[in-house]
Amino acid sequence: MNQSVTTVAGAKPLKVLLLENIHASAASVFGASNVVVETLKGSLKDDELAARLAGIDILGIRSKTRVTADVIARAPQLLSVGCFCIGTNQVDLEAANRRGVPVFNAPFSNTRSVAELVIAEIIALARQLGDRSREVHTGTWRKVADGSHEIRGKTLGIVGYGHIGSQVGVLAESMGLRVLFYDVATKLPMGNNRSMSTLASLLEQSDFVTLHVPATKETEQMMYGARLAQMRRGSYLINNSRGTVVDIDALAAALKSGHLAGAAVDVYPEEPEGNGAGFQTPLAGLANVLLTPHIGGSTEEAQEAIGTEVATALTKFIQAGTTESAVNFPRVELPTSPGTHRILNVHRNVPGVLRDINKIVSDIDANVEQQFLSTDANIGYLVMDVSKNLSSEVGDAIARLETNIRTRVLF
Ligand code: NAI
Repeated sequence: MNQSVTTVAGAKPLKVLLLENIHASAASVFGASNVVVETLKGSLKDDELAARLAGIDILGIRSKTRVTADVIARAPQLLSVGCFCIGTNQVDLEAANRRGVPVFNAPFSNTRSVAELVIAEIIALARQLGDRSREVHTGTWRKVADGSHEIRGKTLGIVGYGHIGSQVGVLAESMGLRVLFYDVATKLPMGNNRSMSTLASLLEQSDFVTLHVPATKETEQMMYGARLAQMRRGSYLINNSRGTVVDIDALAAALKSGHLAGAAVDVYPEEPEGNGAGFQTPLAGLANVLLTPHIGGSTEEAQEAIGTEVATALTKFIQAGTTESAVNFPRVELPTSPGTHRILNVHRNVPGVLRDINKIVSDIDANVEQQFLSTDANIGYLVMDVSKNLSSEVGDAIARLETNIRTRVLF
C-alpha cells in the first residue's frame, strides 16, 4: 500500500490523457496550465488502458471506460480520474480512494438542459403536441381544441427542489404558472414559488407534477398507484429524474383510465445499454404520452459545460490539491498561502498520523503556515503549507512514514 510517490508539480508538465471524445472545452481549460494533454476518440479496455496509463498523471473518461481496481493498481503514477459525465459507476471508487486517487465528475452541468426540457414538455402535454404531430406525419388532419389548454395560470408541482427542480420553478413562473414544491430538505423558495409541507397537498393542487428527486430507497416507487390517484383528475405527470421513482405499470393504468391526461417520461426502470431497436415500455402507444430516451441532460451545451467543470476541478486538484467536488475522497479546499510550498499527504486513517507528521515538522524546524486534515473511513488527506526552504525535506520524511499512501509537494 505504501507508495511514497513524490511529484513535483511545476517542475515538469503533468500528462493528461482524455479518452472517449471528451469535449474540446476540457483541453482548453488544461491548456492554460502546465500540463500536456493527449486525446483519444474511443475508450480503452483493461490491459490496453493499464498499458496506456504508463506516465499518465490524470485520466479523463466518460461512461464507457472501466477503471477497475486492477487498472488503478497498475498505474501508481495516476493522481486523479475525471469522469466527464454524471455517473461514476464505471470507476472502482473504493480502490481509487484507498490508493489516494480522487475521482471527479460533473453532476450539475446539465441542470439547465433538463429544466428546459421540462418546460417544453409542460406546453407539449397541454397542447397534445406529440399526438397532433404524429397524426400529421401519418397523413391525418385533426384540428381540435378539446383537451388543449394554455398553461398560463395553471399550477405546477415540483417534487424535489434541488438544482433542477428550483431551476424549473424559476422558468415556469416566468411563463405564468403558479409554482408549488415539495422537498424533504428545507429549501429557500425562488421567486414566488411556494413550499408545501406534504407531498399529498402538492399532488392534490397541481395541474402538472414534475419529479426531480434522486434515486434512493425513499424515492423508489414513490409515485405508486395511490399517489397517482391523489393527483388531480386530468392532470399530467412528468418524470425526468430516475426510472425507479415511478411505478410505471400504475402510471400506464392511470393514463388508460383517463385519470391522468398525459405524461412525459425520459427515464425508465430498465434502460438499454446502447442505442438501437427493441425497447419496450408499458407506456408505448398511449395517448398524449411523450417518451424520450433519457435525453434530459443530453445537449451540446451540457457536454461543453461538463468539459469545463471537470477539467477545472482537476486543474484545481493539480495546482492546489483541492478535492472539494471529489466523489470518493475527503474534501479539502484551502486557499494557498503566499511564500510557502504546499504538501499534500494521503495516509491510512489510523491513530497517531498527525502526531507523527507534526513531529517531523518540529524536528526539521519547518514553519507551518496552515494545515487542514480531512478523513473518511479509510484514508486521511492532509494539506499543509510550509516554508519553501524546508518543504522537500518535510515532504520526503512524510512520504517515508509507514502510514503514507501518497505525498506530493507543490512547488
Ligand atoms: P439535486 O440533488 O440537486 O436535488 C434533488 C432534490 O430532491 C434535493 O433537494 C433533495 O432534498 C430532494 N429529495 C430527496 N429525496 C426526496 C424525497 N423523498 N421527497 C422530496 N424531495 C426529495 O439533484 P438534481 O441535480 O436536481 O437532479 C434531480 C434528478 O434528476 C436526479 O434523479 C438526477 O439523477 C436526475 N437527472 C436526470 C437527467 C436526465 O437526463 N433525465 C439529467 C440530470 C439529472
